[in-house]
Amino acid sequence: MADKPRVWVSRPTFPGIIARLDPYFEVTGESEERRLSPAELAAKLADQDAAIVGLQDRIGAAEIAGASRLRIVANLGVGYDNLDLDALSASGIAATNTPDVLNESVADYAWALMLGAARRMSAAERWLRAGQWKSSEFTRWLGVDVRGRTLGILGMGRIGQAIARRAAGFGMPVLYHNRSRLPVETERECNASYVDKQQLLQTADFLMLVLPLTAQSRHAIGAAELAQMKPTAVLVNVARGGIVDDKALATALRERRLAGAALDVFEGEPALYPGLLELDNVVLSPHIASASTETRRAMAALAVDNVLARFGHGPHAGRPPTILNPNVL
Ligand code: 8YV
Repeated sequence: MADKPRVWVSRPTFPGIIARLDPYFEVTGESEERRLSPAELAAKLADQDAAIVGLQDRIGAAEIAGASRLRIVANLGVGYDNLDLDALSASGIAATNTPDVLNESVADYAWALMLGAARRMSAAERWLRAGQWKSSEFTRWLGVDVRGRTLGILGMGRIGQAIARRAAGFGMPVLYHNRSRLPVETERECNASYVDKQQLLQTADFLMLVLPLTAQSRHAIGAAELAQMKPTAVLVNVARGGIVDDKALATALRERRLAGAALDVFEGEPALYPGLLELDNVVLSPHIASASTETRRAMAALAVDNVLARFGHGPHAGRPPTILNPNVL
């Protein structure tokens, strides 16, 4: 009997979900979270038929040059700026991502970050843990209410829309900017009004970034954009590091030209721009907006479905359900 095709999983996930591959594939995987060097990645991919990878795995022409058997790279994430789609397509390798299953978890987390920044939760907790809570202080931890303030959303895809739909409960009007304007029914359902980018920057009290990282969106928020924002505004980034110029942001926060920020993603993460760590008016978290158990399991399951489908198994046999480059099929 012919050998089973091989799947490599680049990071620990959920063994029970990955086990769905066992009847059809020889599965190997990394037992710890570690960023592989480009050479290590190329060596891993060289004898695989399929790979399930994460956003720390940057896969381009060099990494797949020796991977003559590889037929699919299934990304554990909706964002796929770590994949060179042109290079993968040129080699007939399918690329897939995990859209939709994480929309609600990421939207919840974006709100958690925003509320945390508005009410200074992490600074207050640091103070408490440092043993500084000696007596009730009526005016020490004053934050701002979000009710009645304007929520701005830059990037109004599925996650942006899920964020917008939550705003009604908090009594916040929503403005958005997107490459293309949404259909009127969707705007109505999200209770959101379209404005140009400049108006969004100038009007938002809380500005959420939910756009993919591309060559065009790199540093979409830099010094010039930050200068247009209200000094009382708060910036929230749950999208990708690199969309914000972290150095310019740290400067604006330090000089109080911007009131606050809440960031789940960073340029060059897991390293952070050192200036950010020194600031008290920024909430920092380690890229965990999609990290609920249900959602991370659903992401892993979707990656497995994509691999199965590429090899003709499961309900989507032949057509991976969330393929990014259908031209290879
Ligand atoms: C990560 C994300 O994939 O979906 C995305 O684009 O950024 C996240 O959900 C997740 O952190 C796994 O690394």
